[in-house]
Amino acid sequence: MDIVHPRIEAYLRALAEDGEPVLWEMERLASELQFPVVGLLVGRMLYQLASMIGARRVFELGSGFGYSALFFAKAVGPGGLVVCTDRSERNRQQAEVFLKRAGVWDRIQFHVGHALTVLQQVGGTWDVIFNDIDKEDYPATVELAYRHLRPGGLFITDNVLWGGRVLDDSGDDAPATRAIRAFNRQLFAHPGFYTVVYPVRDGVAVAVRQPG
Ligand SMILES: C[S@@+](CC[C@H](N)C(=O)[O-])C[C@H]1O[C@@H](n2cnc3c(N)ncnc32)[C@H](O)[C@@H]1O
Repeated sequence: MDIVHPRIEAYLRALAEDGEPVLWEMERLASELQFPVVGLLVGRMLYQLASMIGARRVFELGSGFGYSALFFAKAVGPGGLVVCTDRSERNRQQAEVFLKRAGVWDRIQFHVGHALTVLQQVGGTWDVIFNDIDKEDYPATVELAYRHLRPGGLFITDNVLWGGRVLDDSGDDAPATRAIRAFNRQLFAHPGFYTVVYPVRDGVAVAVRQPG
């Protein structure tokens, strides 16, 4: 199921192109490798959300080769920090090439390892935590993100509509689908978050960390 009609997606994409050459190189690689980057429309949404709250410290769970991180790195500006995580050293190396070329590598710390373990080890309080790891791990992210966000900070999660497979009658009972359903229920029920799902691309959950 397309969450957004493909013609609307194409229309919005054409409006949004901003000519960052490294972005197009990353998209070409993603297409070659069939690697799931967030894409231009969600990327711009990440930039906008981070800018709206004046984010200077962003923690990414699942960075791939740095596509989403490029939007965050631009949003935090010089002196800001984006911590990237990925289990693949090859992705880290590729991210370094792209993000150096985009002139933002000095704002990036890239850790290779299990994203949730790295967040626990690095610790600290973050303005934005962005979640794009294996879907089976989604339920374990909610409480951890809550503990590491400042009040007013954003916990942003990609793919929460999972091509419509989250619907109860979709007939899909795969572990990833069940995990996303559980994650969505858990996130909406969490008293420390105020959550909205934006049906952009594959569904993006934006949860504002409440005071207290
Ligand atoms: C969907 S891709 C991320 C795309 C990236 N956010 C972007 O838009 O450019 C997911 C990435 O997370 C990594 N990954 C998945 N589960 C992980 C985990 N538990 N810990 C660390 N990395 C993980 C995968 O290696 C993959 O590169």
